[in-house]
Amino acid sequence: MASSVFLGLDLGTSGVRCLAIDASGALVAETHATYPLLTPQAGWTEQRPQDWHEQTFAALRALVGKLDGHRIEALGLSGQMHGMVAISADGQPIRPALLWNDGRTGAQVDAIEAAIGRPELIQRTGNRGATGFQLPKVLWLRDEEPEAFALTQLVLFPKDYIGYLLTGEAVAEPSDGSGSGAFNLAQKTWDTDLLSELDLRTDLFPRVIPSDGVVGHVTAEAAGATGLPQGTPVIAGAGDNAAAATGLGISNARPHTGSMSLGTSGVIFMPLAAPKPDPEGRVHLFCHADGNYHLLGVTLSAAGSLQWFHDTLAPNTPFADLVDEAATSAPGSNGVTFRPYLAGERTPHMNPDLRGSWTGLSLASNRADMVRALLEGVAFSLRDALDLIHDLSQPHELLATGGGSKSPFWLQLTSDVLGLPLGRPAVNQGAAYGAALLAMQGTGAVASTLDVVDRTLTSRVESNPEADYEAARQRYLG
Ligand code: XUL
Repeated sequence: MASSVFLGLDLGTSGVRCLAIDASGALVAETHATYPLLTPQAGWTEQRPQDWHEQTFAALRALVGKLDGHRIEALGLSGQMHGMVAISADGQPIRPALLWNDGRTGAQVDAIEAAIGRPELIQRTGNRGATGFQLPKVLWLRDEEPEAFALTQLVLFPKDYIGYLLTGEAVAEPSDGSGSGAFNLAQKTWDTDLLSELDLRTDLFPRVIPSDGVVGHVTAEAAGATGLPQGTPVIAGAGDNAAAATGLGISNARPHTGSMSLGTSGVIFMPLAAPKPDPEGRVHLFCHADGNYHLLGVTLSAAGSLQWFHDTLAPNTPFADLVDEAATSAPGSNGVTFRPYLAGERTPHMNPDLRGSWTGLSLASNRADMVRALLEGVAFSLRDALDLIHDLSQPHELLATGGGSKSPFWLQLTSDVLGLPLGRPAVNQGAAYGAALLAMQGTGAVASTLDVVDRTLTSRVESNPEADYEAARQRYLG
């Protein structure tokens, strides 16, 4: 008999990843495809929904081609959060999508906060206004491209656009919905009062279903284009951070375990039972895929800072050698301090205009001090987020993912600065994996994604109480 597989996809910023897992959660096959990032002006980031469509369908077709002898049970979705896909009455994207890291909507964020009031906005949505969120993008479209806005019948998140293409059904789910800036956290649906205060029609936004809810079934047309069996259930899934956390088993069942990613950006994710925001909205509060909530702290340039250093100042030195070199400096980097605000900063500053710096350089400083200061600066930025998270939850341990966590030195340094143990999970397949787990739960194949997650760690570092970063951190905080 053909064995069952569950598919998941992650519509990322650099490309889409599709994978299949079996009923035990083991990876069976995966495929990737890429598409361009458009930057029509400084600070603007866009992608063409048509590129997502073509490349996702191609990656799905390639995946299906690797699954002979398996029965495809369901597909779960995940992807980059916060984006705006504007759809016309005939179901076509009207213009390129504005992405999570687009910074053009400063005026609209100000308008939202002026209309609603920041404390009220935080109380209702869990977050202050942010340029990357979906709501200010919709207002930007209305202000700056009124003809396009007039044609817009529906606004979707990136992954939900793929669900729409596959099934003909338009939905949103709470983990992405809560990243719109227009979602009532307590009610887990659109905040209709907030929308009406901004003079926006509620029906611009799709109906909301749970993250493990069925969006619809693969249509004959989509089946022809992807090779997926017609009628395959598509499960709503979650935004990439909630989906990745689902894949790691981060939930209120283990309320003291969160995750930390040292990728291009750095992220700290903590589960939370109640929608209790930071009073100043310095750390994000979103819905989790399990029906609860989570805190999210974001350092925009984490491993991205090292990438920038490498590309700009040391293109011929491999990353691993740069990190080894950093280890030859001392904690505190002999007085050198780096602030990693190369792309502005989210947590805690929420300021796209902040910029990075090295300070404390002297004739005695060398490259090792500069690289170590960079790694320490990234860790101090994550610590800023963790300190806010500590006010709202009790993290005891973080599961570490992302490229930077592969370096034992970098992981130890980060653990020392955060003052928490960091474990590296043996199964670390990212958001697409969490989406596939939600597909299993959504079809009833398992009662909970937690039944499938393998909690084995490949390594675990304890923070070293002897390592003293306090003076360096005070310099960082300035
Ligand atoms: C989270 C965020 C990013 C994107 C990246 O708030 O903006 O993590 O989801 O894909």
